[in-house]
Amino acid sequence: MIALRAVEPADGDALHAIFTEPGVRQYLFDGALLTRAGTERHVEASIAHGAWVILQDGEVIGLTSLRPTGKDRELTIVIGERHWGRGVAFAAAQAAMRHGFEVLKLPRILAAVDLPNERSHRLMRRLGFIPMGEVDGPKYRARTYVAVNTAASRS
Ligand SMILES: CC(C)(COP(=O)(O)OP(=O)(O)OC[C@H]1O[C@@H](n2cnc3c(N)ncnc32)[C@H](O)[C@@H]1OP(=O)(O)O)[C@@H](O)C(=O)NCCC(=O)NCCS
Repeated sequence: MIALRAVEPADGDALHAIFTEPGVRQYLFDGALLTRAGTERHVEASIAHGAWVILQDGEVIGLTSLRPTGKDRELTIVIGERHWGRGVAFAAAQAAMRHGFEVLKLPRILAAVDLPNERSHRLMRRLGFIPMGEVDGPKYRARTYVAVNTAASRS
């Protein structure tokens, strides 16, 4: 059973364990190994923009957010490697998007995924994101995506 709750300072240890996994940091932090202080800064920024931890049976297994970027919000998501391949990220991202569309009434949600991050491209397509273009990133070029709030575009 997946649930989201607002990220708190006490989530730092669990998130640090996830952020430093090889498969996670490869694309999330361009391979960089975050120090505990680096995770602390990430957690503080996440709290500031209203990110959620992803809970499975009460355990923190990831983080998702609708991070402000200009006038838009961008979906971010990460889950620990041992939970990959089971639809857990899909369920959590859907919950975040529902909040964005139904509560925040966003007209659209953006995403950006490093070109070699195949797993994440599959996730974006399953979530209904449409490819928009490509942009340069610090290490990899990234594909940009948009998901449109169909309820908002009908009203
Ligand atoms: C990107 C990331 C969140 C994707 O996780 P994931 O587990 O692959 O994603 P999903 O939850 O959609 O699971 C998909 C897999 O579960 C399977 N699955 C099983 N039950 C499912 C269900 N009920 N619904 C959807 N998929 C299901 C799918 O078939 C798919 O299998 P596949 O990988 O063999 O194609 C994860 O790889 C991650 O945290 N990576 C590091 C951080 C990162 O790169 N984040 C993205 C930056 S934008």
